[in-house]
Amino acid sequence: MRKSITIKKLVQLARESRERAHAPFSRFKVGAALAAGDGRIFTGCNVENATYGLTICAERVAIFKAVSEGAHRFQQIAVVTASKHLTPPCGACRQIIWEFCGDIPVVLSNLDGKTEQFRMSELFPRPFDQSFLKKMR
Ligand code: THU
Repeated sequence: MRKSITIKKLVQLARESRERAHAPFSRFKVGAALAAGDGRIFTGCNVENATYGLTICAERVAIFKAVSEGAHRFQQIAVVTASKHLTPPCGACRQIIWEFCGDIPVVLSNLDGKTEQFRMSELFPRPFDQSFLKKMR
């Protein structure tokens, strides 16, 4: 069986990705690293835009990179910011994480090394997902 990546290493990759963030408007840099079932790791950083609304979060960059490369069965995701208060994924990212990754562990960390772990079902209780599309009356 493939040895899964350690949380420490996943956080380190998210931290490195954060350095590549394009965040000239908010100056709030975010990095993410997503572990796929086949052992590949996909990283992402937030990429902002002058229209603001076209900004994409680090988590979604990582997930869309992974999906577009044919990865699936995701194991865990790490999210790193410089904030003293660990930064959870925004609502839109929670929906996307749930859709593609389900109830995975979400590791939050900051540059001081403070780290906490949650499950997606804690962060995103009562989700809307494709099961509802089959429950029409
Ligand atoms: N951001 C993320 O990358 N992930 C989140 O889950 C929260 C917010 C980014 C979007 C924007 O570039 C900046 O952080 C401030 O909202």
